[in-house]
Amino acid sequence: MSQFLAIPNTATDALLEQHPDMDFRYAKNSDLTEVKAIEQLTSPYPWSDQLFDESINKLLVITQKQDIIGYAVVALVAQQAELHLIAIHPKAQSQGYGQLLLALIIESMPASIESFFLEVRVSNCRAIRLYQRLGFVQIGERKDYYRNGMGTEDAIIMARENY
Ligand SMILES: CC(C)(COP(=O)(O)OP(=O)(O)OC[C@H]1O[C@@H](n2cnc3c(N)ncnc32)[C@H](O)[C@@H]1OP(=O)(O)O)[C@@H](O)C(=O)NCCC(=O)NCCS
Repeated sequence: MSQFLAIPNTATDALLEQHPDMDFRYAKNSDLTEVKAIEQLTSPYPWSDQLFDESINKLLVITQKQDIIGYAVVALVAQQAELHLIAIHPKAQSQGYGQLLLALIIESMPASIESFFLEVRVSNCRAIRLYQRLGFVQIGERKDYYRNGMGTEDAIIMARENY
């Protein structure tokens, strides 16, 4: 049985209180063009159209004045959540919106979720710092998991426990 994030709720309303022009919600099909454009700008290996189309039910967006400035793909399976993708538009980066988006996701977890997992390139120091700030810790690694310009790169597996 598929599960969904519980949005909006009082905690997400509180997080967005300082940002009256922003919204956090599940994506609609009509959002995909904007999301895919940001993906092209932010990822060296962008997700394919097919992957996005298959993930539409797990795709969250954060908007500012109705424009999408960031998105995330979050899968909920039984007691576990997985972050499959997160990005903020380059023009909106380094203003706290990545942290806000992840905090909104965390505050929307259904009560059944016990652990939240993600994988990140070892070289993506900025993303790793963001995850650490929000309580994720390294629990493992995967050797040669990602492609990069020079061959392959390890993945760090991180988790956040105890919802
Ligand atoms: C990783 C990513 C999602 C972070 O998003 P972001 O909105 O830039 O993140 P934040 O603004 O919350 O934090 C980034 C930095 O800005 C700083 N910052 C936060 N609020 C700020 C503000 N108001 N003014 C200035 N700087 C600020 C943070 O302290 C942080 O500094 P650090 O990187 O030195 O730790 C974004 O860089 C991105 O889309 N990257 C490409 C895709 C990617 O790598 N995704 C993760 C794959 S696992």
